[in-house]
Amino acid sequence: MRLLVCGGAGFIGSNFVRTRLRGSDDEIVVLDKLTYAGRRENLQDLEEDPRFSFVHGAIEDPAAVATAIERADAVVNFAAETHVDRSIIEPDAFVRTHALGTFVLLEAARERELRFLQVSTDEVYGSIEEGSFTESSPLDPSSPYSATKAGADLLVSSYRHTYGTETLICRGSNNYGPYQYPEKLIPLMVLNALAGDRLPVYGDGLNVRNWLFVEDFASGIAHVLEHGTPGEAYNVGGPDECANIDVVRRILELCGRDESLIDHVTDRPGHDRRYSLASEKVRALGWSASMRFDVGLERTVAWYRDNAWWWEPIRSGAYRDYYTRQYGQTLDD
Ligand code: NAD
Ligand code: TYD
Repeated sequence: MRLLVCGGAGFIGSNFVRTRLRGSDDEIVVLDKLTYAGRRENLQDLEEDPRFSFVHGAIEDPAAVATAIERADAVVNFAAETHVDRSIIEPDAFVRTHALGTFVLLEAARERELRFLQVSTDEVYGSIEEGSFTESSPLDPSSPYSATKAGADLLVSSYRHTYGTETLICRGSNNYGPYQYPEKLIPLMVLNALAGDRLPVYGDGLNVRNWLFVEDFASGIAHVLEHGTPGEAYNVGGPDECANIDVVRRILELCGRDESLIDHVTDRPGHDRRYSLASEKVRALGWSASMRFDVGLERTVAWYRDNAWWWEPIRSGAYRDYYTRQYGQTLDD
């Protein structure tokens, strides 16, 4: 298949591209705006592959999309602003990319009659104290991030309903693994623990997330692209749930540090308590997650320990200003 992968220079997109180039005959064009989170370094080992090419541009730019989509059989859209904390401070880019960007891509897919897979999130359902969300649960997002992602999902569904476009939606739970930008819980805590910096836990640390190893999400998306029924949404949840404080304690253990590094800091406004997905529908298509959280977390810590070339430029650049603004404290040199 010839795939247009939007947002393929980010965390999950780059893992997806790597998995596809290694495990299939796909030809892949990545279209990416290269925001702070999108980095060519994430694709460095794939650049020489003749089946891979890169277009620098935004999904909300119809000219860039027209160039990138030229030879595609299908579109997979990862492109997004993805950090809840940033969406609280500066929601503008979230609205532009998720609403306008998804619209421009859908138009291009509709004109060319291409299959379109939207990568979405469990956060569109909102928080759940007990039990798990199914695909028919109502969308009830809480943050500007999740609200704009929910809006994009609805727009995608409308293209199936109105124009018959072959749309699919994959709603993943919290991903972790190599190449994740260190603004997110796991890589932030790993890098701080390795450096001996403080570990800022929001509120009481008892918020629960449903952890999914990134290669499992990549294989779930590929599975839905191939076997999913057009017009349907599929939850792709991880095998294990864990409270933030337990994630942090385990990271400290794996990094050989003690709990005195933990700082309980002011809670995130509107912080969702728990996310949980029921994934029976995608399992009925023949997919299942293969990585348990314990093993995946150990592998992830090892990857960050061994790949300082990847994160050192981030920790010494603009990320430091972001960190000071977000946490009111500086990173040690
Ligand atoms: P990321 O922030 O690491 O990467 C996003 C990528 O999109 C970057 O390469 C960025 O440059 C690119 N991008 C942003 N705006 C763009 C635009 N307007 N045009 C073109 N490219 C643009 O994000 P991620 O964690 O890899 O998430 C990818 C997708 O998966 C997102 O849609 C996100 O909502 C979804 N998702 C993420 C998680 C998670 O835990 N990270 C879980 C479920 C779903
Ligand atoms: P995050 O990785 O931002 O993902 P999301 O909010 O999309 O689930 O955060 C995961 C959890 O970790 C969430 O409950 C917020 C919490 N958290 C902290 O306690 N401290 C931090 O510094 C960060 C970034 C997150």
